[in-house]
Amino acid sequence: MRRGVIGSDVGRALEIVRNGGLVGLPTETVYGLAADASQKTAIAKIFSVKGRPNNHPLIVHVSSLDVARTWSSQWTYSAEILGSTYWPGPLSVIVQKSSIVLDEVTGGHQTVAVRVPGHELALELLQQFKGGLAAPSANKFGKVSPTTAQHVLDDLGDDVDYILDGGPCRVGVESTIVDCSLEVPVVLRPGGITAEAIESIVALDNVDSGISRAPGMLLAHYAPLCEVVLVENMQQAQGSLGDANSKYRILDASIDPTSFASAMYSLLRQCDLDGIQKLFVVLPEPIGIGLAIRDRLTKAAHGSKNQSR
Ligand code: TXA
Ligand code: MG
Repeated sequence: MRRGVIGSDVGRALEIVRNGGLVGLPTETVYGLAADASQKTAIAKIFSVKGRPNNHPLIVHVSSLDVARTWSSQWTYSAEILGSTYWPGPLSVIVQKSSIVLDEVTGGHQTVAVRVPGHELALELLQQFKGGLAAPSANKFGKVSPTTAQHVLDDLGDDVDYILDGGPCRVGVESTIVDCSLEVPVVLRPGGITAEAIESIVALDNVDSGISRAPGMLLAHYAPLCEVVLVENMQQAQGSLGDANSKYRILDASIDPTSFASAMYSLLRQCDLDGIQKLFVVLPEPIGIGLAIRDRLTKAAHGSKNQSR
């Protein structure tokens, strides 16, 4: 391991992003793999390090609502009211992109996703940087998202120039993505800000199935190596064990969904470290943060089924 690759030196992170490098960025949701959104070569590095298809758009992270507006040619009422209510926080809004936004960031789309993350170190870096940092989650494409600096190092190793250590992520699941470019906004990915909280201030198009539909959100995603089996209650988990002689574990996400969300990706990673072959998870109710947990675990279950073991 390179010395000093993990640290809390915002000045060093700033210098690296200015020079077109990659920084592991702590946020309240998951760690991001951040690069200057205005440098094509830096953006290209994100895609190659993650192994992510080039047409999957990235979220641009900025320090404030004022800066967010400059990334859009058509800042809508819903973007304004959601941003002013929930930023800094686990919410990304999609709006028409302004001329400063590179096609490499949006995957060729005319819209861009922007968010102000609710994490002190991320905000400090963004305030000093002044521009936008494009950052997907800092994991290999399709794999489990990182919620500690060590997870980022485990996944990306030498490919990341510096990892800003902001401790474990508080929310633990990615931001809620709301398409605010539409007349009636739509939730494309359930996340840290609940659909109920959004609906309390803007009318949403009622097409939400609770399963994310943002471009690039494949059905198989967030997948650990072990097989993930989803059940609705503990009895069903016990019943599904059968005579399986594989090494299994049962987790219950229904008791305290908020705490489960914040630990979820660490728990999935721990299963792999412990050599678990089959993981049973009791799902939370599909309300509040429960929707985001169900979405990610449904994708983890598909991903785990589809990978060769
Ligand atoms: O919490 C988060 O959102 C984390 C942290 C690092 O901020 N980031 C994150 O990024 O989850 P990523 O790249 O793993 O997921 C971003 C999702 C992608 O699935 C993409 O489809 C969607 O955002 N997205 C980005 N730009 C979009 C656009 N213009 N239209 C529709 N969806 C978009
Ligand atoms: Mg991701």
